[in-house]
Amino acid sequence: MSYAKDKLNSSLEITEAVKKHGFCIIPNFIASKKLNKLNKEFDTIIKRNYSTGFYEHGCREYMDVIAVSEDNLKQSPFTAQIDLMSTPLIQKITLNFFGVDDFFIQHIFNVKSTETPAHSNELPYSLHFDKIHMLKFFFFLSDIDEDCGPTWVVPQQQHKSLIKRKEWREKGNPVQEINNIIHYHKDEVIPLTGAAGSLAILDTDTPHKAGSLGQDKVRKIIRVSASSPSYSSKG
Ligand SMILES: [Fe+2]
Repeated sequence: MSYAKDKLNSSLEITEAVKKHGFCIIPNFIASKKLNKLNKEFDTIIKRNYSTGFYEHGCREYMDVIAVSEDNLKQSPFTAQIDLMSTPLIQKITLNFFGVDDFFIQHIFNVKSTETPAHSNELPYSLHFDKIHMLKFFFFLSDIDEDCGPTWVVPQQQHKSLIKRKEWREKGNPVQEINNIIHYHKDEVIPLTGAAGSLAILDTDTPHKAGSLGQDKVRKIIRVSASSPSYSSKG
C-alpha cells in the first residue's frame, strides 16, 4: 500500500490522513525552482555562512544540524526558507490536528546527514514515541530512499502511545521519565521515502525511529516541529 498522497491539497484532507495513519507523505510539495533556491540556502547554512540567530545543535561527525528560531529566521537573508515557513499550510494542519490555537513552532532545523557509523540500537535508532507530543514536518531537499536515512514508522499505532502517556500522567509521573521505547516486528516498520521536494508529516506518537545512511549517501532535510502545550498536558 502506498501512503504517498499527491492529490491531497487541503489542510483538512492532509490532517485526516495524518490522524488515520500517523503520518502523511506529499510528493512534489516544493516546486523545482523553489527547491533549487532552498538547496542553495541550505548549503550556505551548513557551511556556517549564516547570520546571528543560527546555531549548531547536536552536530556529530556524520550529521550537521543547524537550528534557528522562527523569529530569527525572519531576520535572515534566506528568503526561500522564510517563504517555506510562512506557508499557511503548516499552521492550518497544526491547528486542525491539535484542535487548539496555542500550538507553537519551536525551532527550524537544517539537517545534513552522511554515512551512519555502525548500526546503533539506541535512540533515535530504535522504535519509540516522542515524550512530548508533536507534529514534525520533514521537507526533503534531496531524494530519500531506504538507504538514505529515512524515518521509519509503524502505521496506525499512534493511539497506543497516547494511552500509555495518559496512564503515566494519571499516576502523577513526570513525562520526561516515561519509557518511550516500543517493540514491533521489523515487517511492520515502513520508511518515509520520497523524491526531493516531498513533504513528510509525522505524528510523533506514531512509533518511529531514525534510519541509517549507506556509503556515499547524503540526506538533506529541513525539519520543523510543532507542539501544543494544552494538548500535551491533556494527552
Ligand atoms: Fe523521535
